[in-house]
Amino acid sequence: MANTHTNPLREGMRRRQAPDPCLLVIFGVGDLTQRKLLPALYRLAVENELNPNFSVIAIGRRPWSDLEFREFAKQSVQTSKESGEFVEGVWSGFEQGLHFVGGAFDEDAMYENLKGRLQTISSERGTAGNVMYYLATPPSSFEVISSQLGKFDLHKETEESWKRLVVEKPFGVNLETARELNHHMHEVWSEHQIYRIDHYLGKETVQNLLAIRFGNVIFEPLWNRQYVDHIQITAAEDLGMEGRGAYYEEASITRDMLQNHLMQLFTIVAMEAPSSFEANAIRDEKVKVLRATKPIPKERVPEVTVRGQYGPGTLHGEHVAGFREEKGVAPESVTPTYVAVKLEVDNWRWQGVPFFLRTAKRMPKKVTEIAVVFKTPPAHIFPGTPENNVLSFNIQPDEGMKLRFSSKTPGQDNRLRDVEMDFHYDSFGKLTGTAYGRLLLDAMLGDATLFPREDEVDLAWQLVTGILEAFGEPAPEFPNYDAGTWGPEAGDKLIGEGRRWRRL
Ligand SMILES: NC(=O)c1ccc[n+]([C@@H]2O[C@H](COP(=O)([O-])OP(=O)(O)OC[C@H]3O[C@@H](n4cnc5c(N)ncnc54)[C@H](OP(=O)(O)O)[C@@H]3O)[C@@H](O)[C@H]2O)c1
Repeated sequence: MANTHTNPLREGMRRRQAPDPCLLVIFGVGDLTQRKLLPALYRLAVENELNPNFSVIAIGRRPWSDLEFREFAKQSVQTSKESGEFVEGVWSGFEQGLHFVGGAFDEDAMYENLKGRLQTISSERGTAGNVMYYLATPPSSFEVISSQLGKFDLHKETEESWKRLVVEKPFGVNLETARELNHHMHEVWSEHQIYRIDHYLGKETVQNLLAIRFGNVIFEPLWNRQYVDHIQITAAEDLGMEGRGAYYEEASITRDMLQNHLMQLFTIVAMEAPSSFEANAIRDEKVKVLRATKPIPKERVPEVTVRGQYGPGTLHGEHVAGFREEKGVAPESVTPTYVAVKLEVDNWRWQGVPFFLRTAKRMPKKVTEIAVVFKTPPAHIFPGTPENNVLSFNIQPDEGMKLRFSSKTPGQDNRLRDVEMDFHYDSFGKLTGTAYGRLLLDAMLGDATLFPREDEVDLAWQLVTGILEAFGEPAPEFPNYDAGTWGPEAGDKLIGEGRRWRRL
């Protein structure tokens, strides 16, 4: 049986091992399957990363045949930028493995049918009984699918074959529901079978952060309270709701971005060196960071957070509507589209070093960056005010990192000016793969390193739940920032004390 809970890779982050043959069962043929999963899988086929026997069964309510689903998949692949080049020869092999089962997620008959098709396809295509189920469905369907798979014994592993369950975000809407969901899933699945996906962790630059920190000696000695003044993490989006206003009203920026993606970036920046690159060694260190982070009970929220919502404004030279005017959003909505938080980690490394996290919609540009802002020199022997050195990681777009430091300008006076050393990821040639592709492949390989574990999700919710409760009351005065700006003024005050948000 393939090893299901350890990462066989001890010597590096990337392995060239081929995944086991397997059948991927995708529940839901909506936006995610169409725009991300099918293009990512096809691209893995182009890059020769899939096992040749790899096959898919998609499940949805449409009365499709396998051929109709293949036509849908072809269009998805041809219209998505994530698929890369369309190669007819690769496609014709890939599509032979695509199948469709119609039915609703709670229907027994659908699971009877699925069971039969799993057996037939597994023997026809030689997938050896290995099955990965992917919940690309509304979260309200997660529990019913999990228990129906259990009821029909479709979760059971044998000595020779594995079964895994990939769960999309959001994993619960608060601490209580996340715990209920974990509890519910564990009635059927063991923790080693569950892969909670956070697609930010599939990004090459996030993984590079681990490589930069723990694959070099020059950064880590400075990565502590002695040299670091503070750390900023920004995930800015220029898009508004794009028709997903109703979803956003429920989720808000806090659930959609802060609880998962930003907390994950935070733990990777703040964690200690793991003893190995095994999944649990890395996840243990991330958990220790969350445990050491000062809790944010409801009463502390006004002191350490700022919330905002965009009104109408100008973006890329065009007028754009405010959040309250977007489709699916209530005219008096108090849902935040901006959140900034100050986190403090109570341990030897980070005592007194604040971490500022901000994320928002309708900012001037799309950019995700982590910046380690260093202290200024202890003695000032040059004219002018010394600037902080900054080591910044551009997670997306224009992936890379920069080191900002002072240098003497040419000439007789000893003036300093900031200069930058730049590393662009595209210097390796074009970036290959997609974040979803990387994570799908890791799940097929049984490598859970980049998937948050149950205790990580729980601790992240513990930190964010007080914020969610406090944001409900009193009603905020929204909108408080114009679309196309960097958020409300209060955000600048949060970072305060002679510091400022990076101009991105
Ligand atoms: N879209 C994204 O970019 C994105 C990004 C990150 C995470 N996610 C997460 O991924 C998941 C899926 O998102 P999505 O945007 O793809 O949602 P979506 O477009 O609403 O698609 C959901 C799919 O599930 C099907 N479905 C719903 N209830 C069903 C039932 N009872 N029986 C059978 N089929 C049912 C729908 O079928 P019908 O077509 O018949 O209604 C639809 O095909 C969500 O958890 C979301 O939070 C999405």
